[in-house]
Amino acid sequence: MRYVVTHPRRVRGESVHQTSWEKKLLLSKEREEIQVKVQSQTAARDPETLRKEIEEAFLMPEVEHFVETPEVRETEARMKLWLDAGYPVHLIGPTGCGKTSLAMHVARQFGRPVVWINGDESITTADLIGGYSQIENESVRDKYIHNVFKSKDVMKVEWVDNPLSLACKYGYTLIYNEFSRTKPAANNVFLSVFEEGVLELPTKFGEDRYIRVHPEFRAILTSNSIEYAGIHRPQDALLDRMVGIYTDYYGYETELRIVMEHTGLEEDVARRVVEIVRYLRDRLPDAQKPGTRACIMIGKGLKMLNRSSGIGLDQICIDVIANKTSSKKEMEEKRELVCEAIAAVQEGSGG
Ligand SMILES: Nc1ncnc2c1ncn2[C@@H]1O[C@H](COP(=O)(O)OP(=O)(O)OP(=O)(O)O)[C@@H](O)[C@H]1O
Ligand SMILES: [Mg+2]
Repeated sequence: MRYVVTHPRRVRGESVHQTSWEKKLLLSKEREEIQVKVQSQTAARDPETLRKEIEEAFLMPEVEHFVETPEVRETEARMKLWLDAGYPVHLIGPTGCGKTSLAMHVARQFGRPVVWINGDESITTADLIGGYSQIENESVRDKYIHNVFKSKDVMKVEWVDNPLSLACKYGYTLIYNEFSRTKPAANNVFLSVFEEGVLELPTKFGEDRYIRVHPEFRAILTSNSIEYAGIHRPQDALLDRMVGIYTDYYGYETELRIVMEHTGLEEDVARRVVEIVRYLRDRLPDAQKPGTRACIMIGKGLKMLNRSSGIGLDQICIDVIANKTSSKKEMEEKRELVCEAIAAVQEGSGG
């Protein structure tokens, strides 16, 4: 039976008593509100919006404390020129000279999302372009009639993109760090991307096999100029398709500014650190030369140094450059070299 309101009733706050009709009305209103909420949420999460959200949250790199001096700007300008002309740029330089930071900084300036890969021995073409991922495996065992056994396995698979295919499809900037650590065969897929502007997905069939490279796709590759174990010589055909920019260690003033920016050290202390590292760099063999990263590490070590700890500048420098030492004898030689560097720098500064 329907309850009929015969006189107006005003309820302040939550009503204590509700008729069944009021309850129904309230429920349907709640349901409506939930429906609207769900609709607006699902509308906001269509694949395109979701991709944009991901791009904003994860694919815009932050380069902290980046220092620009005339020499940094000059390299940046050359990189931008070639990237704007549609060529991939290959940064070649010794360990810790600033290749990755420069790549990130330049990539960021294009205002496009950035994806990156770190090359290594185990990278395969699938790590670059993606592949099928198994998402559902369903088994049905039908024994409806006792002597008939029906079995069905259903496997649903979905294609998952990796950095190269993402960059080609959506026009992202790709940073491929240390690409010469990857076996050359895995990098073959780049040949048609750079030459014909087409990415071929070898495991796909028909039209899906080819992706036309987005006009805003850009690629910055880095590699080490020093021949280490685990480095493969990239195929000439690939090197021929990109522009090479050799980046050596930065000059004294740039390195000084980088150290001050990263460590907050006073200028005279930062100068000493940079001079010591440059002295060691001039005398150690190629594969053991300390880069700008070593300057920053020594600077940060000095910042933490507590006079009462009894640890000296020499020990801080030794700890930072000791990693690539293979024997006690070599360590002693390095210790001597560090003492020599500290003395030379002190002498030079009149201290
Ligand atoms: N222009 C710069 N401004 C500020 N910091 C910099 C700059 N260039 C390099 N650095 C700093 O120097 C250190 C080494 O730089 P980076 O990692 O880019 O060198 P890399 O050449 O890529 O080294 P690796 O060969 O080991 O990969 C980092 O700590 C980085 O933050
Ligand atoms: Mg690097």
